[in-house]
Amino acid sequence: MREQYKDGCNLSARMRLHRRFSVNKYGIFRWIFDHYSMPQSARVLEIGSGTGQLWKSNADRIPAGWRIVLADFSPGILREGLIELRGLDRRFDALAADAQSQPFADRVFDAAVANFMLYHVPDIPRALREIRRVLRPGTRLFAATMSTGNMRELDEIVRRFIPRATIGAAPARFGLDNGFELLADAFANVTLERYPDALVVTEAAPVMDYIESMSTMAGRGSAEAKLAMRQYLEGEIAARGSITISKDNGLLVATV
Ligand SMILES: C[S@@+](CC[C@H](N)C(=O)[O-])C[C@H]1O[C@@H](n2cnc3c(N)ncnc32)[C@H](O)[C@@H]1O
Repeated sequence: MREQYKDGCNLSARMRLHRRFSVNKYGIFRWIFDHYSMPQSARVLEIGSGTGQLWKSNADRIPAGWRIVLADFSPGILREGLIELRGLDRRFDALAADAQSQPFADRVFDAAVANFMLYHVPDIPRALREIRRVLRPGTRLFAATMSTGNMRELDEIVRRFIPRATIGAAPARFGLDNGFELLADAFANVTLERYPDALVVTEAAPVMDYIESMSTMAGRGSAEAKLAMRQYLEGEIAARGSITISKDNGLLVATV
């Protein structure tokens, strides 16, 4: 996992596909931010902050009184995140930290964000206990994730050309299917909302970049198999004009 996120390259390849071909143009990071209920003055922790896209996408509406701490176990991706956020006229504190053992005192944050990352954490219940520990009573964790059915058509194409490969394993660990129960063990009140969206893709190259960016694809598939997959994608796009891939993402909100 550390190799996958040593910098922002893999994550950016995946975001490029979503940015270019998502049907819902509102944008998931704007939608996620719509759910934030923190007061104008608040200490906000983002765990697994990656390249900082949440804040970049909402640059026009982050309250001036929020003190934002970005924490990620990859110093490389944190650095890239801070570079991405340099254009925003505000300060972000950043530190390298593992979600499973957070270097913060008890009850110091007014909200925690953990988007598309809890499924990577080896001991998820431990990370959830840590998040609860650093949050003040009555405050919330906002955790975006996906379901096991997310992008299933693309997973089927990958499996057809590279047997035993997958691009969809992560949400089985913490996703829309089971996140509710995992959170309910550590938090008082949990809600789930889905973000309606799909990909309608008209180019094969960004799809191949997406597939190659997945840690589950490392070392899998011969050059011939990948060429055949690319030619299949190109053929489908030529014949039908596009390939539709369903998405199933959403937001879990849990109260301390
Ligand atoms: C899929 S990216 C999501 C990034 C960002 N939250 C977003 O929505 O764009 C997952 C991020 O979680 C980080 N990460 C993975 N395991 C972690 C852990 N145990 N503790 C802290 N960060 C972790 C990775 O370095 C990466 O930046």
